[in-house]
Order: sequence, then structure tokens, then C-alpha cells
Amino acid sequence: MTQPEDNKRAASHQPGDPNTTGHTWDGIEEFDNPMPRWWLWTFYATIIWGVIYTIAYPAWPLVSSATAGVLGWSTRGDVASEIVAAEEANAEINARLAAIKMEDIAEDADLRNYAVSSGAAVFRTWCAQCHGSGAAGAVGYPNLLDDAWLWGGDIENIHLTIAHGIRNEEDPDARYSEMPAFGRDEILTPEEIDQAVNYVMSLSGTPQDAAQVEAGSVVFADNCASCHTEDATGDPEQGAPNLADALWLYGGDYDTLTETVNNSRFGVMPSWSNRLTEAQIRAVATYVHQLGGGE
Ligand code: HEC
Ligand code: HEC
Repeated sequence: MTQPEDNKRAASHQPGDPNTTGHTWDGIEEFDNPMPRWWLWTFYATIIWGVIYTIAYPAWPLVSSATAGVLGWSTRGDVASEIVAAEEANAEINARLAAIKMEDIAEDADLRNYAVSSGAAVFRTWCAQCHGSGAAGAVGYPNLLDDAWLWGGDIENIHLTIAHGIRNEEDPDARYSEMPAFGRDEILTPEEIDQAVNYVMSLSGTPQDAAQVEAGSVVFADNCASCHTEDATGDPEQGAPNLADALWLYGGDYDTLTETVNNSRFGVMPSWSNRLTEAQIRAVATYVHQLGGGE
């Protein structure tokens, strides 16, 4: 680009054109036009709106909190009032659930549906960390999906287990029993324990040495049958598991069984009667009962 052409452009400002800002690029001058009125007013309006908003609602950060806003609104308050509304809406059905006989819940379709769905929510919040989100359990935490029950699988027994828990110290009505530590407390010799373990393994179909099994059946009858029953199918009154069904709470291999018989086990579940409402306990009992295994 040559000099004369530039000069020609710079001189293009005509009388009657708006003032220029004095900026020139390559001979192009910037007019000093005012902002359109509509734009300017919208801009002022957003500033005023912003100021009002930060006064009305929580906004400005302080050292460890924020300004609360003169309207007193908060997301927490919003959630709290939604919870209150939900509780009010469910108050009637919860009262019905808490009052009805446990075995009659299943006969009232509305009540049962409500119990199962609200029970599922209780389960996710309070039970899943031990029993697993799908209720399939883990070592030491029983699977609630199958039909093997330590403490009984009818709705009354499930309700009792949940309300008071198992072997906890907080609830005097908690279920309680204690398997002796046969090795640690020298009730049986290592030889006898080995025999008993062989016998227990044979019950769920693992082939064992016949002589050991024979000797073990005697040890079992003398020391174990009082709790696990003579045919080893367990006693729900004492929370003594079935040892003949190939389902294991702690494990059915030789080492785990030897550990169980040597040192015993002491599974603890918290009591829920002081943490959940009666309606919540009944709801979660109904949920657990229908998971597949409920007797
Ligand atoms: C801190 C862990 C823990 C939590 C939380 C927990 N449980 Fe348990 N639960 C256990 C243990 C451990 C056992 C087995 C105790 C035993 O060995 O007898 C058990 C046993 C049970 C049983 C008895 C199963 C049977 O075979 O008889 C039921 C039913 C049950 N839990 C339901 C629940 C429900 C419902 C909740 C939630 C409200 C819950 N549990 C929360 C640990 C827990
Ligand atoms: C006083 C009652 C009692 C006696 C006697 C007793 N048990 Fe137990 N046993 C229990 C209880 C209760 C449990 C469950 C413990 C728990 O859930 O924490 C249990 C659990 C077990 C388990 C764990 C099962 C699993 O699913 O993992 C085995 C194995 C077992 N007992 C074997 C024996 C043998 C073998 C003897 C005899 C040498 C015996 N028990 C004697 C009460 C008893």
C-alpha cells in the first residue's frame, strides 16, 4: 500500500459525520457513536437486578459462610420443606403400616407396595454398607437374597432381627448366642477339631477320609449338635447356621472352618429401633422378606 492512498482514506471524514475517537487503523477511522439507548438501559437494569438479587438471596462469600440474603431462602431450607411435605403426605400410610399386624401387610396391596419401595430406600441408606447394595452380603454379612436364614426368615423374625439387631451391646433385646472357641479355650484337641471339620465338610458333599469323618461325627454329636442340631441343619432360635447346605457365612474350606471352630465367630448387627421409626423398620422388613428368600 502506498502513502498517497492512505492519505486519501484518512481524509474521507465528511462534514456531518459523527465525531471520531481519533483512532485510525490503515486509514480507517473509528466513529464515536453513542451506545444505542435500548442497550444502555438493559445494561443498567441488569446492574440494578444484580444488586437487588445479592441483597435478597445468599450471595457474598464471607470468611466461613456467606451473606444469608433478606428473604432467608436456602437450598437446605428448600430440601427440608420438601421432606416435611413428603412426610406429611406419607403420615397416614406410615401410621397404618406401624399399626397393622406384620403378616397382614402382604394382604393389603397398596400398603405392601408402599412398604417395599420405601423399604428399598431405607435399605440403600442404612443396610447396604454391610449387606451390599443388592443385599447379596459378603463374608460375615449374610446374603439376604437366598432362603437360608440364621435367625428365621418369616416376616416376624426378620422384623425382630432388624428392630433389635444381633449381639450388640446397645439393645438389651438384641438376638444373642455365642459359639464356644473350641481350640482357643481348649475344649477340644487339635485332633478332634480336625475330625469335626472333616465331618462338616463331608456334609456338603466334599469327599473326606472316611475314618476322620466317622470320628468327626462323634465329636459333632457331643459338641456341636446342641446348637447346630443333630443333622446339622442349624437352629434359628440360636442363630446357629445350617452346616449342611453348602452356603457359608464365613467360608467352607478347610482353613476357614478350622479357624471358625478354633476361635469362634461373633457377628454383630446394630439395633435399629432407636434409629428408625417403626414404620421404617416394618418397611425394610417387608422389603427384605420379598427379596426372594422370605419364608
Ligand atoms: C454394621 C453392619 C450391618 C448393618 C449396617 C446392617 N446389618 Fe444386618 N447383619 C449384619 C451381620 C454381621 C449379620 C449376621 C449376624 C450373625 O452372624 O448372626 C446381620 C444379619 C441380618 C439379618 C439376619 C439374616 C438371617 O439370615 O437371619 C437381617 C434380616 C438383616 N441383617 C437385615 C438388615 C437390615 C434390614 C439392615 C438395615 C436396616 C441391616 N441388616 C444393617 C450386619 C449389619
Ligand atoms: C453354643 C452354640 C454352638 C455350638 C455348641 C457350636 N456352634 Fe457353631 N455356630 C454357632 C453360632 C451362633 C454360629 C454363628 C456365629 C456368627 O454368625 O457369628 C456358628 C457358626 C459356625 C460355623 C460357621 C458357618 C458358616 O456359614 O460360615 C461353623 C463352621 C460352625 N459353627 C461349626 C461348629 C462346630 C464344628 C461345632 C462343634 C465343634 C460348633 N459349631 C458348635 C453356635 C454354636
